[in-house]
Amino acid sequence: MPPRLSQSPTDAPKPDLLGRAEIEVLVNAFYDRVRGDETLGVIFDKVAQTNWETHLPKMYAFWETVMFRSGGFTGNPLAAHAKLVPLTDMGRDKFDHWLTLFRSTVDDHFAGENAEHIKRCAEDMANVIYSKINAVPDPRFDPANLTPEQKKRYAQHKSQPTQP
Ligand code: HEM
Repeated sequence: MPPRLSQSPTDAPKPDLLGRAEIEVLVNAFYDRVRGDETLGVIFDKVAQTNWETHLPKMYAFWETVMFRSGGFTGNPLAAHAKLVPLTDMGRDKFDHWLTLFRSTVDDHFAGENAEHIKRCAEDMANVIYSKINAVPDPRFDPANLTPEQKKRYAQHKSQPTQP
């Protein structure tokens, strides 16, 4: 095979997430993917009827606040997702799928310490939001600490086929 004279864009070293500019690139790319996605796109565009002109800047502020403590985010993510529960399925498989899209968007654009950190933050928050809005224990908790009633719910939750 002849030697390659130039690197393709995918071979180029990827930057890390350094601030607001990269957060905006990530958020725009992620929600492009979400909107094109068969299951998640419907939740935003049909169920919540999201106004993207306000949602995207809110998400820039959210992730800038999480990563760099400077975005000024003042929303209420738990309430925003709890509102969706009576309207659509917000089960574990939806959160796992959301995480798969999020991780792959990060990996396609960025690499480094902050890129790894934002994926861990997203996983932690997905666990918290999923558990709180569906009233199941956070999967990171030790089941040994649960009450008998919680243990029963935890066993049901664990037996779901989509449980990671
Ligand atoms: C099944 C997975 C998820 C779905 C379907 C979903 C869907 C939504 C929808 C429909 C909204 C409201 C948008 C609007 O204003 O119209 C929203 C808001 C939001 N989501 Fe999610 N989301 C998911 C997971 C997550 C996760 C894991 C995070 C955090 C890592 C997150 C962070 C947020 C934030 C910060 C808001 C704005 C909350 C506010 O208005 O204060 N979402 N989401």
